[in-house]
Amino acid sequence: MKKVILDVDTGVDDALAIIYGLESEVLEFLGITTVNGNVPLEMVNRNTLKVLQMMGRKDIKVYSGAPNPLVREREHEYSVHGTDGIGNALDNLALEDEVQDQFAADFIIESAKKHKNELTLIMVGPLTNLALALKKEPRLSEWLDEVIVMGGLVSQAGKGNKLPNSEFNIYADAEAAKIVFHSGAEVTLVSLDVTHQTFLTIDHIEKLKGTKYYEFVKNATGVFRKFSMQRYNIDGCALHDPLTVGYVINRDFLETGKYYVDVETVSPLGYGQTICDFRNLWGKEPNVNICLNVDGEGFVEHFVDTVSK
Ligand code: RIB
Ligand code: CA
Repeated sequence: MKKVILDVDTGVDDALAIIYGLESEVLEFLGITTVNGNVPLEMVNRNTLKVLQMMGRKDIKVYSGAPNPLVREREHEYSVHGTDGIGNALDNLALEDEVQDQFAADFIIESAKKHKNELTLIMVGPLTNLALALKKEPRLSEWLDEVIVMGGLVSQAGKGNKLPNSEFNIYADAEAAKIVFHSGAEVTLVSLDVTHQTFLTIDHIEKLKGTKYYEFVKNATGVFRKFSMQRYNIDGCALHDPLTVGYVINRDFLETGKYYVDVETVSPLGYGQTICDFRNLWGKEPNVNICLNVDGEGFVEHFVDTVSK
């Protein structure tokens, strides 16, 4: 099985990614690391622990990470994920577990050193933890097999979800993303260009009826689906984070190409923009694999099949 660490800011689609990744039974989770993002870190920790407890997977250990971005102020997404971050779907579940003592960035460094060239990081929140780890241990980029990042927007100008050209995970800590993109690690960016072609609609959700996760998925996605209805006229939840995990499970879901990508950290108009130099105008060495195409239907079908096992 492929060794992975999943870095989350749980969040609704993060929760779906945890369920999907573990139920796929093809990934060996060394642990889950948490970061400030959709909601404050304490909520991310509680949500992540509750999802694992709901699944009966308290064997998967959770490592708490950065409570704040490297430079900018925190900004959250309650309008998408609800006041608690997972649509209040597990309010009645009494938390039984707690996070590990080890800091997330140190767990990432230790795991990569122990499993050189075997560890894949799946980053589905702001990149603060990985940036801190890279600054503390620069050799990390050589030890990692690859880094799969949910974030950014490369081909569809104006269709961002935080600024016209900026996506939330990168926007939440653009300085961290810049460090990661220029680290030398083998980075793949699963951007809104492809994740916005993978909506889990209410019709898909109803196909889960009678299965273990139906109630959670329907309740947790309520706020997210209402938001999507208002913004995109779709009663559904874009599977941003699950698709990022899905690419590690099956490379056929995405077509990628390597280009030079940089991150805007100065402009108030474009803070967090991921700028892909398709025409090599800057003449710089390609550093990021970006997504050119997605089998959206095939992925959502695989997600539903896996989660309804
Ligand atoms: O822009 C979508 C991303 O931001 C997803 O990872 C979502 O969970 C939020 O973190
Ligand atoms: Ca996320």
